[in-house]
Amino acid sequence: MKPVLILGARGMLGGALQKQFPNCIAWDREDCDVTDFARLPEKIGSLGNLEAVINCVAYNDVDGAETHRDLAFKLNSDVPANLAKICKQLDIPLVHFTSQLVFDGAKGEYAETDLPHPISVYGESKYQGEQNIQKQTDKFYIIRTSVLFGPKGQSELSKTSFVDLMLDLSLKNATIKAVDDEESAITFANDLAVKIKEILATGLPYGIYHITNSGSCTWYGLAKEIFAITGRPVELVPVPAAEFPRAAKRPAKAVLQNTKLPPLRPWKEALREFLESNNITFKI
Ligand SMILES: NC(=O)c1ccc[n+]([C@@H]2O[C@H](COP(=O)([O-])OP(=O)(O)OC[C@H]3O[C@@H](n4cnc5c(N)ncnc54)[C@H](OP(=O)(O)O)[C@@H]3O)[C@@H](O)[C@H]2O)c1
Repeated sequence: MKPVLILGARGMLGGALQKQFPNCIAWDREDCDVTDFARLPEKIGSLGNLEAVINCVAYNDVDGAETHRDLAFKLNSDVPANLAKICKQLDIPLVHFTSQLVFDGAKGEYAETDLPHPISVYGESKYQGEQNIQKQTDKFYIIRTSVLFGPKGQSELSKTSFVDLMLDLSLKNATIKAVDDEESAITFANDLAVKIKEILATGLPYGIYHITNSGSCTWYGLAKEIFAITGRPVELVPVPAAEFPRAAKRPAKAVLQNTKLPPLRPWKEALREFLESNNITFKI
């Protein structure tokens, strides 16, 4: 297999993907600022034959996007548009990641064919990124995924996962409140990376895919499982989203349904493997 180019290599998913593609070319921001659109075609073109470009670069701060609209659109919408154009010229596929937050939550569960209707700037920017790719090239894998957890990204700017947030909070607080009226699917970054490797190796049809671990839960449900597995002695209190006012609106329930691929293992199983393999446990 020719090497893949992974962009956003110091992020959580970029790190997980590098393990699956040992002969990849992995770029972080210091290797290549992907917003330098004038130089990007030559920089990627000079790498020679590539199997695919895998884009993990994103503006990932859902609340921050409400005030940093231009940066969110640049990274989540303009970058994929430019990458898709370059991939078209090189005749290679683009793998790009987007989110359950392109949906408004009215339907609750969403298949790949459902029409997005974002309710936040982050969601709008990710949806526009999806559309931009489809205007530029037919060779795309647009992967919608949801609530990633896994080994931390190396970048300081890498999004802190909810799992890491709960573990950090549990070291400082005896009581933790978690929202119990927002529901999504959960995704182990390593399981997603394995699936991306399979998709490219088997050459599945291009298109939009929903990839998460099986099942879904609320933030409270996820926190409860984290503390059950790790044995951390915290009092966990379910609260409504209204108790945590945030800048961006979120769907009450936006669970991605995977109707195209064999399902990934249940999220609780993946979470247990991640926490136990990292020795994150208080059990005696
Ligand atoms: N995290 C989640 O819960 C979640 C949920 C649904 C979908 N997704 C999607 O999954 C993908 C991966 O997410 P992630 O959590 O792994 O991301 P992440 O850890 O936040 O990493 C984002 C990456 O973007 C890079 N980046 C930002 N600006 C850049 C620029 N101008 N030039 C080059 N690189 C730049 C950062 O590079 P530096 O390290 O060099 O700054 C970082 O490596 C994203 O598309 C995200 O939207 C994530």
